[in-house]
Amino acid sequence: MNVNIAPDIVAKELSAAKNLDDYYAKLVPAGMGAGWNKSEPSLYPAPKKTFLPAHWPYRTARPALDAAARLVRTEDAERRNLILHNPVAGHGYGTASTIVAAYQMIKGFESARSHRHTPNALRFILESGPGTYTIVDGKKVPMEEGDVVLTPNWCWHGHCNEGPDNAYWIDVLDVPLTQLLGPIFFEGLEGKFIETAGEAAANSPYRFPFATWGAKAVQQKESRPGLREIVVGPPHLDSLRIKWRYFSSNAKVDEAETTANCVYAVHSGSGRVRCDEYEFEWARGDVLVIPSWRAARWEVGSESYLLRVSDENLLEKLNWLRTAG
Ligand SMILES: [Fe+2]
Repeated sequence: MNVNIAPDIVAKELSAAKNLDDYYAKLVPAGMGAGWNKSEPSLYPAPKKTFLPAHWPYRTARPALDAAARLVRTEDAERRNLILHNPVAGHGYGTASTIVAAYQMIKGFESARSHRHTPNALRFILESGPGTYTIVDGKKVPMEEGDVVLTPNWCWHGHCNEGPDNAYWIDVLDVPLTQLLGPIFFEGLEGKFIETAGEAAANSPYRFPFATWGAKAVQQKESRPGLREIVVGPPHLDSLRIKWRYFSSNAKVDEAETTANCVYAVHSGSGRVRCDEYEFEWARGDVLVIPSWRAARWEVGSESYLLRVSDENLLEKLNWLRTAG
């Protein structure tokens, strides 16, 4: 309601409306709009394909991170990360509507400060040398090549590298979802850069080594010819479902539209994926996004391991996880 106009005057004007156009105009100061006269329908038969499929090659991201390492310190950046924006016009943040992915690196003998936040996060380690770890709630969790490391909602986490080699990884978080719903909270550690670390926890419940989970993926029954998958966990993030996906060499796999948004990080292998009019060739370290309600055809070259992160845990809780057909 427009507070500058008395309600009884607005009501009188509406009562005197001569025709529908006049009525619509007189609804405006009342802070109302006719449900039958929306400029865009609010309900439609199936999800809109709002976000675009996209691909980010590691061969671009890695040198970009190295350049950032020359130009910005972690003390100044909070995180030295490169956010993967969905290329849809007018959009400036997430990789899909609910998920954001980023490439991140820390140099040898460098750290990224401890902080915590309500969005859930995971990282998939692409390259690291000995002595690289994340401190999660006061415990050192190793970050080795192929590891998936979780930092769920409100866990303290900082990243440390006690060796000489640069460390590179891919972060995936539910920040766009948390922003949409509202409950973003963020806190930096008071008084020091990094949390005091307890004992190293190679067997941390938040760490999933590739040696274990890649092997488990291959041992699964084929969910369709050429594709084997395993859900990573427990524990599980409340919103994001993490799967290791193994494609046999030369497999061809068609996937129907799903309401889930899916981000893929390539551990190894090669191939191409077609998604509507888009086609991408993947290689180690690349990131792909197949947003909600986009069918995909996977055409595998060499056998491939892809980490698949989707918003299926959230959608399933809301009974909104659906597949076409
Ligand atoms: Fe964080």
